[in-house]
Amino acid sequence: MTADPRGIIAEAVDAALAAAHAATSMADLRDVRVAALGRKAPMSLLKGSLRDATPEDRAEIGRLLNEARARIEQALGECEQALAGAEEARALAADRVDVTLPGRRIPPGHPHPLAVMTERIVDVFLGMGYRVAEGPEAETDWYNFESLNMPPDHPARTMQDTLYIAGSDLVMRTHTSPVQIRTMEAQEPPIYIVVPGRTYRRDPFDASHSPMFHQVEGLAIDRGISLADLKGTLAEFARQIFGPEQRVRLRPSYFPFTEPSAEVDVLCVTCGGSGCSACGRSGWIEIMGAGVVHPNVLKAAGCDPSIWSGFAFGMGIERVAMRAYGVQDIRGFFENDQRFLAGFAG
Ligand code: PHE
Repeated sequence: MTADPRGIIAEAVDAALAAAHAATSMADLRDVRVAALGRKAPMSLLKGSLRDATPEDRAEIGRLLNEARARIEQALGECEQALAGAEEARALAADRVDVTLPGRRIPPGHPHPLAVMTERIVDVFLGMGYRVAEGPEAETDWYNFESLNMPPDHPARTMQDTLYIAGSDLVMRTHTSPVQIRTMEAQEPPIYIVVPGRTYRRDPFDASHSPMFHQVEGLAIDRGISLADLKGTLAEFARQIFGPEQRVRLRPSYFPFTEPSAEVDVLCVTCGGSGCSACGRSGWIEIMGAGVVHPNVLKAAGCDPSIWSGFAFGMGIERVAMRAYGVQDIRGFFENDQRFLAGFAG
């Protein structure tokens, strides 16, 4: 034996204890254990060399080695516990929730301006005893055109640029008027319905057009209904939507499914009728088409024109909303820009 075994042991213990206390992680402690007690540690090598010692030395060195190992194990255990505690404290600190912080504001949503306007329009007519009817957005040629007095070669078909569904006989409905026919087929008059819904036309997407837009159709079928009933109904509608001073004007027009037909104007909401740039100096703005239901339409839907008569109207909801709310660009309704939509929060 060359070096003094007692010295080697004392040194190994000092080194192991110092390293254990300096350790900052469990991995450090594992390294300390290997260095002090592993197979190649000085104390382990010393143990191997005891063979050559005297029995007295062997007994004493053996005892010293056992004591040293116990001291190192104890120190490692204590340091391990301290590190585990510190690690837990760190994790808890990182996880801490400050319950006194103010919450993040979640702004409440609100209905889309078109939904609001649709409901307002429909409500006016519900108040007059109408009910809501609906129909499919993909329509047959019969319901969208032919039953509405537009046979296949009728020039009025070009009034509405149609989107056809490839590989089928269906079209995307160009107006809500097909629901007039569907309702008259399904029930006997008297009929008083309003039909809100989506409609489609092959139009560009620009400030005043959208290939998908919304209409509300109205249909009243009863005995002895006349153009005067139409005008009175629409005047009341205009007052409720645009204000108590409102008036309506019917201008002669043409639709294949009504006779006579009219474009319906209300006093310009910008100038009140005196004429401005918004109404082209006329003092009036157009809001819908209307007329007395054509006898051919009644016949196509199975209603006897010698008993029943009625009126119909159809308005673009975007148009009415643009006029009522002073919106310049129809695309605002479809682009989901919160800066636009938030202006309509109720
Ligand atoms: N369907 C017509 C359109 O979309 C509007 C309308 C409906 C006109 C009912 C008269 C009667 O242009």
